[in-house]
Amino acid sequence: MPSRISLTQFFIDEQRADRIPTDLRLLLETVARATAAIATTVSKGALADALGEAGTENVQGEAQKKLDVIANEILLGANVCDGNLAAMASEELETIYPIPTGYPRGNYLLLFDPLDGSSNIDVNVTIGTIFSVLRSPRAKDEELTEADFLQPGRGQVAAGYVTYGPSTQLVLTVGNGVHGFTLDREMGGFIQTHPFMTIPAETREYAINASNARYWEAPVQRYIAELQQGKDGSRGSDFNMRWIASMVADVHRVLTRGGIFMYPLDEKCRAKGGKLRLMYEANPMAMLVEQAGGAATTGRERILDIVPERLHQRVPVILGSSDEVERVTSYHLEPSS
Ligand code: AHG
Repeated sequence: MPSRISLTQFFIDEQRADRIPTDLRLLLETVARATAAIATTVSKGALADALGEAGTENVQGEAQKKLDVIANEILLGANVCDGNLAAMASEELETIYPIPTGYPRGNYLLLFDPLDGSSNIDVNVTIGTIFSVLRSPRAKDEELTEADFLQPGRGQVAAGYVTYGPSTQLVLTVGNGVHGFTLDREMGGFIQTHPFMTIPAETREYAINASNARYWEAPVQRYIAELQQGKDGSRGSDFNMRWIASMVADVHRVLTRGGIFMYPLDEKCRAKGGKLRLMYEANPMAMLVEQAGGAATTGRERILDIVPERLHQRVPVILGSSDEVERVTSYHLEPSS
């Protein structure tokens, strides 16, 4: 067995190398502990009465599952009193959640999708938590507003996700590569198992919900048609398709062995701007993918350069192996598109 380091040791090493300040390290350790608690509930499933509908709707008008609500409460509860945050925002909350008066406030904003892949909860397929950390632009005694969160993704100081699958894995970046950790339930902590994850520039694997094909724009129709023609078409090579329908699991596959993941603009989601949320889904995944050597665009612009207009803004997402992302982006940018 190779010698492995714990998440805490990893953070201490990053701190000693001046790549992460103490308060950010403590904040990320709190997030990691919260996800380990979510993992325990996820793994108990029906035994913890954690499956099924919550009977409520979130701000997006989506029916909440019990686990959406449980995961959201665990993350809020774990982070409210650690003193490193100024405020939080969640897919499951209508507006921002400033750290209440009476608790110490810190220098960061934490955004999260507490439980990504909700449609997979009840069928025991991999789901996850996605998170993003921004600097707070306010002094600790100043009140925060939603506008303080509307920073381009290139300003993120950390981003990550946790997959609740056959094993629980935490994948994160603090701007010095992408590192994967596996939860050791007996030891009670995350252990580094995947240092410096990289995405190869080339791939022969793609992920898209093909049931939306008739709604796609022409550049996406063209790109996917070329992949489907395989070695008989202009690409001269066969491509394989995978679609888990949990972004967190599909992106984890891309980070593990390469690939391109797409939830493009289509006629079904055009009015909303896209399907996936910019600030707590697309931005953290884009930072991870770029840190791993890949690319992430909307088809028309780099995701990390978008200036957000709303907390729950949606965007098209095309990310993964850089050769393929650049190709499909170039199709969007052709004058006829
Ligand atoms: P959420 O569970 O947070 O609502 O988001 C699910 C997202 C994402 O995880 C996945 O890639 C996509 O929705 C799946 O969409 P389809 O149902 O259209 O396949």
